[in-house]
Amino acid sequence: MLLPGQAVTNWRVWPALSVLLVVALLALLTSHLKQAADLAASSNNEWLTIWETKGVSIGDNEPLHHANGFNGIDLDQWNALISTIIKSEGRERFKANNSVIDFGCGAGAFLEALGLLEGSLELYGVDYSGPLVDVARRRVGQDAPGHFWRGDVRDVGFLPSQEFDHAVSFSVFFYLDSLEDVLAAWAEMARVTRVGGSVVVAEVSDKGMEQQAKQLRNSESDYEKKKKEGQKGSGSVPDHLYIPKSLFLSNAKKVGLQIDAILDEREMTPDLSFYGPSNYRYTVYATKVATLQ
Ligand SMILES: C[S@@+](CC[C@H](N)C(=O)[O-])C[C@H]1O[C@@H](n2cnc3c(N)ncnc32)[C@H](O)[C@@H]1O
Repeated sequence: MLLPGQAVTNWRVWPALSVLLVVALLALLTSHLKQAADLAASSNNEWLTIWETKGVSIGDNEPLHHANGFNGIDLDQWNALISTIIKSEGRERFKANNSVIDFGCGAGAFLEALGLLEGSLELYGVDYSGPLVDVARRRVGQDAPGHFWRGDVRDVGFLPSQEFDHAVSFSVFFYLDSLEDVLAAWAEMARVTRVGGSVVVAEVSDKGMEQQAKQLRNSESDYEKKKKEGQKGSGSVPDHLYIPKSLFLSNAKKVGLQIDAILDEREMTPDLSFYGPSNYRYTVYATKVATLQ
């Protein structure tokens, strides 16, 4: 029998110990390699590199939507796009003095346009690009503390539950890596929203329109040309995630939401055809109906 103190001095246990050590080292190495591969395979991480350069290069007089990648349209068109998407459902969700948090706010262009529709809204935002958050904080938040945070939309654990009247996300979900990530971000939006408030996810790339979308994105349309001119210096861009509407329909209850409408942008009036992606994107309008334990 081997007593505890004898183990290291007994030559018979060394082969077994060496095998254990090699196995442990191999497991450690495999897990590190897997982590590195996951990071490299994440297009959301590749996008982060692009979004981190945007805020740095925006001039003080440049419209915010250009910093957020919407170079193909001018400011009037941008405001018309946001107003159409917000009003198309025919419901007034954003009332005087309500608080709204934008998931993936970038430089704050969407919030600025929303503020034109209802001037007394309290505006908040979270984005994983530090330089863009700085621009939003300065140009939309007037440097007021506690309104803009750097963070990942899939996990905003630093924000309390039921803190805001509404959560919105405009043109963000197709940058995520997977449908699991989409659900994680949507669940976080629902969590931080008060019961009775809205969770609006706008500009989702429709899985059912993926082929048409890819053709359009590779086309030489006026919109695509202008957008690409504005993106010079970004190099090649990673692909988008296409999301089926059924993902939202079948998971709403699980995250405490009720779907009120899912509308295709190409069906909205006034006509949004000046904005190329309106051909294949939709908006999900939901109400928070329950808190989850
Ligand atoms: C096209 S911009 C839209 C910005 C803003 N919603 C608007 O419309 O004005 C997309 C934004 O999503 C942000 N984003 C992408 N993935 C993110 C993630 N995982 N967490 C936080 N922000 C993310 C980017 O940094 C970028 O600012």
